Amino acid sequence: MRLLSVLFAATLLAQVPSPKYERPAPDQPIPFSHKTHVSAGLVCKQCHPMPDPGDFATFPATSLCMNCHREIKKDSPHIAKLAAHHAEGKKLPWARVYRIPDYVFFNHQQHTAVDGVTCETCHGPVATRDVLRREKDLAMQACMDCHRMKNAKNDCKLCHDQR
Ligand code: HEC
Ligand code: HEC
Ligand code: HEC
Ligand code: HEC
Ligand code: HEC
Repeated sequence: MRLLSVLFAATLLAQVPSPKYERPAPDQPIPFSHKTHVSAGLVCKQCHPMPDPGDFATFPATSLCMNCHREIKKDSPHIAKLAAHHAEGKKLPWARVYRIPDYVFFNHQQHTAVDGVTCETCHGPVATRDVLRREKDLAMQACMDCHRMKNAKNDCKLCHDQR
């Protein structure tokens, strides 16, 4: 009887759905940790500067990494891979965590200028994560919910067919 109820409870737990926008972490070319690097004193903007026109946050060049990794952990196989890409002038092929379709207009600079909106609003507590996975909802309904809450425009043309 006890065993049965334990099994029953386990079945119930297994059926609690995780929100459907969550995704497992994708495989990355090397195990980059945000937690390690933010603790080392680096800030988001140093690696994701949002150059004009500000649509994209962008990913850092290998040269930025090599400023430290010419010395730090240079015997690690992961750092050897980083150094090899750098020497060949190649980017690291980071797998994307948050990605919306190309037919949607989105601009980082404009959103981070909104009162009370931070990187964490849309990406979760990145600075405390060793591995990033999609943990926030950025599908159409989520965009529109915040727009409604903040009294921003919400017509179809705002996000589609803008150009
Ligand atoms: C209002 C929501 C929102 C906020 C706030 C936000 N992001 Fe994003 N972020 C997105 C969306 C949506 C994408 C996917 C964009 C795409 O696929 O074109 C994204 C993608 C990214 C990417 C992938 C590459 C790129 O060039 O866009 C990085 C890196 C990133 N965000 C970093 C940040 C950082 C750092 C901050 C804070 C300074 C931030 N984001 C704030 C929604 C947001
Ligand atoms: C300000 C210096 C600094 C910069 C810039 C920097 N790192 Fe690091 N990195 C560190 C430190 C410190 C550690 C932790 C070293 C340790 O564990 O002793 C680390 C660890 C790592 C590790 C883990 C290595 C291992 O085998 O344990 C990887 C992978 C890594 N960094 C990749 C990168 C990448 C990719 C970039 C560029 C996007 C980068 N780092 C930029 C300082 C830096
Ligand atoms: C040392 C450089 C560095 C710093 C500092 C840094 N990042 Fe990143 N970020 C990266 C690299 C490299 C990746 C790609 C690997 C990954 O997804 O973990 C990345 C990926 C991301 C992504 C996933 C984008 C996508 O769609 O694939 C987000 C979101 C992000 N960073 C936000 C932040 C925020 C917020 C901060 C500040 C708290 C920050 N990052 C600080 C280097 C950095
Ligand atoms: C956390 C709240 C929030 C989220 C989430 C959010 N937005 Fe916004 N967005 C705003 C606000 C507020 C404005 C109005 C900014 C202004 O008027 O300066 C805005 C403005 C915009 C604009 C108009 C920019 C312009 O040209 O004037 C577009 C396009 C847009 N958002 C697309 C999106 C998309 C696509 C998503 C989801 C991937 C999204 N937003 C998610 C708050 C949000
Ligand atoms: C605030 C931004 C925003 C507004 C406003 C908006 N959309 Fe979207 N829309 C999105 C995003 C983001 C996606 C992509 C969702 C995903 O990741 O698949 C999308 C996807 C779609 C799709 C593709 C199918 C789907 O459902 O994923 C259609 C069709 C669409 N939108 C129609 C509309 C129409 C019609 C309106 C006006 C009533 C509208 N959208 C208003 C952001 C927006």
